[in-house]
Amino acid sequence: MRYLVTGHTGFKGAWLSLWLLQQGHEVHGLSLDPEPGSLFEVAAIAPELTSDSRVDIRNADDVHRVMRGVSPDIVIHMAAQPLVRESYRNPRWTMETNVMGTMNVLEASQATDSIQAQLIITTDKVYRNVNQVAGYAEGDSLGGDDPYSASKAMADILTQSWVTSFGGPPTAIARAGNVIGGGDVSKDRLFPDIVSALIQNRAPQLRYPQAVRPWQHVLDCLHGYLTLIDSLLSAPSPNATCSTWNFGPDSTSFVPVGDVTTLASRFWGEHVAWECTGDPEFHEANLLALDASKATELLGWRNQLTFESAVEWTIKWFQDVESGSDPLSVTMGQIESFQAMQ
Ligand SMILES: NC(=O)c1ccc[n+]([C@@H]2O[C@H](COP(=O)([O-])OP(=O)(O)OC[C@H]3O[C@@H](n4cnc5c(N)ncnc54)[C@H](O)[C@@H]3O)[C@@H](O)[C@H]2O)c1
Repeated sequence: MRYLVTGHTGFKGAWLSLWLLQQGHEVHGLSLDPEPGSLFEVAAIAPELTSDSRVDIRNADDVHRVMRGVSPDIVIHMAAQPLVRESYRNPRWTMETNVMGTMNVLEASQATDSIQAQLIITTDKVYRNVNQVAGYAEGDSLGGDDPYSASKAMADILTQSWVTSFGGPPTAIARAGNVIGGGDVSKDRLFPDIVSALIQNRAPQLRYPQAVRPWQHVLDCLHGYLTLIDSLLSAPSPNATCSTWNFGPDSTSFVPVGDVTTLASRFWGEHVAWECTGDPEFHEANLLALDASKATELLGWRNQLTFESAVEWTIKWFQDVESGSDPLSVTMGQIESFQAMQ
């Protein structure tokens, strides 16, 4: 199959591109340049791709041109400004990228006859956070207090409205939460901060050590996306529909940031105490859990890695690469181990 992945130079996009290549698919990418030291860069993924377009998704003409040139069978739209704190610093960039970027993809794919399935990636943060303990299910209300959450809720509603109004290829929206894994270099995310502290033998600095978050390995999340695409391909709907799906970890993976950091340093082989940095600059939402029972019941998807294994695999990736192993081999090795579990 011929895939067009937007956001392929990012954290999830690099893992996804390698997984699709390993399955024998043709992969085309549309993104901005990778961050220095990112998985995409250190694993040298660019030469493995059939095409690698460095295009700003806010530019409709460029998105149309790439889509026409690739004529994909499948589109996975992940390109976004994905960070809450950055969205306070740059709300306009966040909105334009996440909302109008999604609009440009929807419009371009509607004009492209080859597409058999399209997946739009949003987030758990699309749900209106009413501080409920139970997980949010797909039918719950959407909302978003911070600019990032609002932009993704808008992209989600836009996608549903677009398909209802104008049709287009079979489309699904996937909502997942915090993911962890080797090769993430995004600022403001926990594991890049922990690992750089451990490498330099200093205490990790935590903004919210008591905050409970759901933790899921990136491969479990991507497995959800790929399972969903299989279901779109195997049961094409006669009418234009847009379904929504949660792919979150179960409640045993809801763990305070401080405990995750302690476990990570144990897997690293040292006990390094973390320090609390005090007042956070920006508001970050309280725990938001997903109810993923729809995906389990209807798609047969479930998380393969426990919370501990997800942390262990993540730390192992960074440690192997730090000690000189080839990042591409380490990543492919984890993809193969994950597949062997199914
Ligand atoms: N990583 C997580 O924990 C998490 C959680 C929930 C949802 N998500 C969603 O998953 C998707 C991927 O996230 P990630 O963690 O890989 O992010 P990332 O920051 O690592 O990658 C973002 C990608 O989007 C591209 N991009 C950003 N702005 C662009 C623009 N204007 N034009 C073209 N490309 C642009 C970047 O080049 C990069 O390839 C995003 O849609 C994000 O909202 C991520």
